[in-house]
Amino acid sequence: MRMRNSKDQNEVIESCDFLIKDPFVFKGKFKELFNNSNPIRLEIGIGKGRFIYQMALAYPNINFIGIEKFDNVMAKAIKTIAKRLPNLYLIKVDAQKLNEIFDHEIETIYLNFSDPWPKKRQNKRRLTHPNFLKVYDDLFEDKKHIVMKTDNIGLFADSLVYLSNYGYTLNDVSLDLDNKDIFNVKTEYEEKFEGKGFKINYLEATKD
Ligand SMILES: C[S@@+](CC[C@H](N)C(=O)[O-])C[C@H]1O[C@@H](n2cnc3c(N)ncnc32)[C@H](O)[C@@H]1O
Repeated sequence: MRMRNSKDQNEVIESCDFLIKDPFVFKGKFKELFNNSNPIRLEIGIGKGRFIYQMALAYPNINFIGIEKFDNVMAKAIKTIAKRLPNLYLIKVDAQKLNEIFDHEIETIYLNFSDPWPKKRQNKRRLTHPNFLKVYDDLFEDKKHIVMKTDNIGLFADSLVYLSNYGYTLNDVSLDLDNKDIFNVKTEYEEKFEGKGFKINYLEATKD
């Protein structure tokens, strides 16, 4: 996500009381942080943050953690989150490090409109690339569970292959999410691409 730096981004991040400044100390203890045993779901690459905020509002009995690697984007997401919620925290980190932060305590990972990295030499940066799937292995509490949506058919097609080659079962695959009868919180990118006439691809996959 290309976004300009803002003058106040450091201050916004520093003063945010729902952004976990040192997430590494909570490894294996995130249920204690939330003070309950409700499932914990991650969104990796939250962008401007609408999805994670609306999901946390819609599902008060599920805990949500939003992951984002860029300061300027994270500051924007913090501003989107109008009200602090007991079931929502943010972490500013690259997804490559997630297995240093979580130890078998995550129920679901959401990947919404992840960067497509279409060039072959850049494919490794894709959040569904097997290198990332390996990182995610240690995050899940029980069954591994990934939900993805994207406008990008190249990334989507390759992700189906990455996931099934890695042993995931594809439980649900759609090339037109809008025509599915499921509760769907639209992300900022989703609205943008739907507005341009793109159909949204969706998958839901699990692995024992
Ligand atoms: C194309 S944007 C989509 C944002 C949002 N999910 C949406 O649908 O509107 C992708 C986001 O993922 C973030 N991102 C990409 N790679 C990441 C990584 N390795 N770790 C954490 N965040 C990442 C980017 O900074 C960007 O904010």
